[in-house]
Parts: sequence; structure tokens; C-alpha cells
Amino acid sequence: MLEITDVEAGYGRTRVLHGVTVPSGKVVAVLGHNGAGKSTLLRLAIGLIKPSVGRVLFDGEDVTSLAPNQRVARGMAYVPQGQQSFGQLTTLENLQLVADGRRGGKALVDRQMARFPALKQFASRKAGLLSGGQRQQLAIARALITEPKLLILDEPTEGIQPTIVAEIEQTIMQLAEEGIDVLLVEQHIGFALEAAERYVVLSSGRVTQTGTGGKTATSTVRAAMAI
Ligand SMILES: Nc1ncnc2c1ncn2[C@@H]1O[C@H](COP(=O)(O)OP(=O)(O)O)[C@@H](O)[C@H]1O
Ligand SMILES: [Mg+2]
Repeated sequence: MLEITDVEAGYGRTRVLHGVTVPSGKVVAVLGHNGAGKSTLLRLAIGLIKPSVGRVLFDGEDVTSLAPNQRVARGMAYVPQGQQSFGQLTTLENLQLVADGRRGGKALVDRQMARFPALKQFASRKAGLLSGGQRQQLAIARALITEPKLLILDEPTEGIQPTIVAEIEQTIMQLAEEGIDVLLVEQHIGFALEAAERYVVLSSGRVTQTGTGGKTATSTVRAAMAI
């Protein structure tokens, strides 16, 4: 379980997050307009940036000063915004890259291929030639090969064709059922709140609203965000 408490963080002298606290939960949604600080908060969660104030706990351990790889070793995984993969490598090679050196590496790859049939189908295709949705699935599959307890997802459905959006949403629900916690930044507020146990709304780097997820939260959040 992830706990982010009262963090201040930013880039150089620019402070982006001001006293942000994120409630813990099995699926936690982070909502807010562009530039609100959502991606910055996720980078902070995985350790790519460090807070000047506040702390990050994972399963009760203070990980605030740990590097991203140390957090991954403890069971955190992160999928950045933008469907990143190694375009010149095949789908399979992208997965093997993460699996190499792990115990049961091949089984880990096979398990994710089974989860995402499109990745199995296009195993030998260069990742750069996959559709945006398939590249997103590949990025999620790569993260899952590390067998995380917590998956951090930054706008996994951004810019993706609707049929695959539904598949990715299903995957997120399925992961939660499998007992993997999810910290999710998502523009599809209806889905995010349906999936989420807790949510926070960020505005200009501050939490302006927080609450319990579920379908009924949608109208409250939409009103608060004026959309
Ligand atoms: N690498 C960076 N260097 C400097 N400023 C950044 C960087 N990334 C984001 N910012 C700034 O931080 C603020 C929050 O950005 P971001 O966390 O990406 O918001 P969101 O994900 O909610 O759209 C914005 O004002 C943005 O310009
Ligand atoms: Mg962002």
C-alpha cells in the first residue's frame, strides 16, 4: 500500500506540488486538468523526483529517499504517459528485456502474452509498428513482468482508439481483482471513479477534492472540475 503525505516537489526551483497527500486504497485515481501536477505526482511516487518536504511510504516502509530501481525491487512499477517502448525491438524482445535475469523469466513473458492476445499475435513485430493501444498494452505488460504489488499508470487510455480503451479498462479492473494496487491518472473520469476506491482531484498542484470512488462520485467531481 502506498501512502504519500504532505509532499512538496517540483523541478529545479519551480515548485509544482504543494502539500499533496494521497489517500491509500486498492485503486486510487488522480484527476485534474492538464498541468495540474498529476504526472509530477506519479514521478514522485516511483522516485524519479524527490520531495523537498513530505514522505512516501510503501507497505509501511519509508521509501522517500530510494531510487526508482529500489522501489521496483520492493514491488512498485510505473508506466509513464505516452506508450513508450523500444520501437526498433520486437514486442517479444521488449518483454524479454525486462524478464531477462528474473527467475521464471519465460513464464513471466508467457503470462503477459496470454493476458494481451494482441501482443502474442504481434510478438515478432517491431514495437514501433504497433498501434498506440497495442504499445500501451506492451508498456503495461512490461511493467507487470516485474510482478508488482502496485502499478502506477499515467493516462493509459490517452490517444487510444475506443475499442482498445475498453480492453485497457478491463485490464485495470482485472489487475485490481488479482490483488495488484493501482495508482491511476486518467482523463476518463467516469471509468476512473468506477474503478477507484479513493480519488483525489489536483488543481495547480494542490488537492482540491478527495473522496471515495464509485459511480455516484462522478457528478460531484465533474461539478468540482467544472466540466
Ligand atoms: N520536466 C519538467 N520540467 C519543468 N517543469 C515541468 C516538467 N514537467 C512538468 N512541468 C511543469 O509542472 C506542471 C505540472 O505538470 P504535469 O505534472 O505534467 O501535469 P499533468 O500531468 O497534470 O498534466 C506544469 O506546469 C508543467 O509545465
Ligand atoms: Mg500528465
